[in-house]
Amino acid sequence: MSAVPGVTGLGGEEARALEARHGIATYAQFPLTIVRGAGCWVWDADGRRLLDFYGGHAVALTGHCHPRVVASLRAQAGRLLFYSNAVSSDVRAAALRDLAGTAPAGMSRSFLCNSGAEANEAAIKMARRTSGRRKVVSLEGGFHGRTMGALSATHLGHYRSDYAPLVPDHVFAPFGDLDAVRALLDDDTASVMLEPIQSMGGMRTADATYLRGLRELCDEHGALLHFDEVQTGPGRTGAWWYGDHCGVAPDLISTAKGLGSGVPVGALLVADRVSEKIALGDQGTTFGGGMLASVAISATIAIIREEGLLENATRRGREIREGAGALPGVTGFRGRGLLLGIVLERPAKDVAAMLREKNVLTGATPGDPHVLRLLAPLVAGDAEVGAFLTALAEVLGA
Ligand SMILES: Cc1ncc(COP(=O)(O)O)c(C=O)c1O
Repeated sequence: MSAVPGVTGLGGEEARALEARHGIATYAQFPLTIVRGAGCWVWDADGRRLLDFYGGHAVALTGHCHPRVVASLRAQAGRLLFYSNAVSSDVRAAALRDLAGTAPAGMSRSFLCNSGAEANEAAIKMARRTSGRRKVVSLEGGFHGRTMGALSATHLGHYRSDYAPLVPDHVFAPFGDLDAVRALLDDDTASVMLEPIQSMGGMRTADATYLRGLRELCDEHGALLHFDEVQTGPGRTGAWWYGDHCGVAPDLISTAKGLGSGVPVGALLVADRVSEKIALGDQGTTFGGGMLASVAISATIAIIREEGLLENATRRGREIREGAGALPGVTGFRGRGLLLGIVLERPAKDVAAMLREKNVLTGATPGDPHVLRLLAPLVAGDAEVGAFLTALAEVLGA
């Protein structure tokens, strides 16, 4: 047993038994106890090394334990672990500045919180509060989180249907159908909310014409445009934010997951014309903008910028498409950059299980059983892309 409290050194089987005994089993787990990570690689308690193209659930954006993230956290942990928004903080100020440096023009403020669902809750509340309207239009197949507000905007599967009744005034349009959104917009519509790539929904990808059309419709009707970039941002698709690909600036961008490279964070980036209407007391959270979270945000942004990871996301995504496109049983691709769906003839769950046997972690999507979901760290290089393609070729019988 380790001398550091909490850093236990439990064996894999022992850990799984304890989790089963004392945890509440809300996740179907991979049969693995992961104890260490570096870059795109993780190790289980028995020393088995795996290539993590599941990216720790889309979180290990700069790779596991990027040395600069670890160094920032270590340095800050010895200074101050936490003080709330009741006081100013040097590192929170820097994180807010750094986030604003990635945002579209006219979006200079953010609300910091702890998760994707919390960022979406804040977005829904701010849209309603600043517009005085109630209705939120979101898309069929969308996933926005499991709290009651975020769930009310979620359409996908059992996440929603198991918990009725939900918050009223949430309505849905089919993905990609501008006329359907137009038909739902009225003078009580606060916002239109969507994931530019529906990751859980099968990696369905919005095109530029659709996103520009939504921007125009929102402007015509005085509704806010809200992109849920919990999976697409920051940087995963090869641009800081998805609208950068097509010149569309939304009014609200919610994000989380990779933003802290593994430290729990969430953020809502807000257009200035909206944030200027938000008053003291309109929203709050104890832990949002905490010191460890803040240094993790700044470190993540610096690494993406200085290590050219936007370009790398585009390049590695293209290489995976080129390599996998030549394999039998691959029928297409969805997504962008390193938020990538490989469409397979076979069920993706089976292929993911076979890849796991070959020490490669990937994901499936609840929205489309034939889409293998890749959430690889943006630091993936030749060795990692090569190892993935070799394993996939073996599994698909090439
Ligand atoms: C697009 C999207 N929005 C929101 C969420 C919820 O984020 P969190 O689990 O951090 O609350 C998720 C989580 O998978 C997501 O994929």
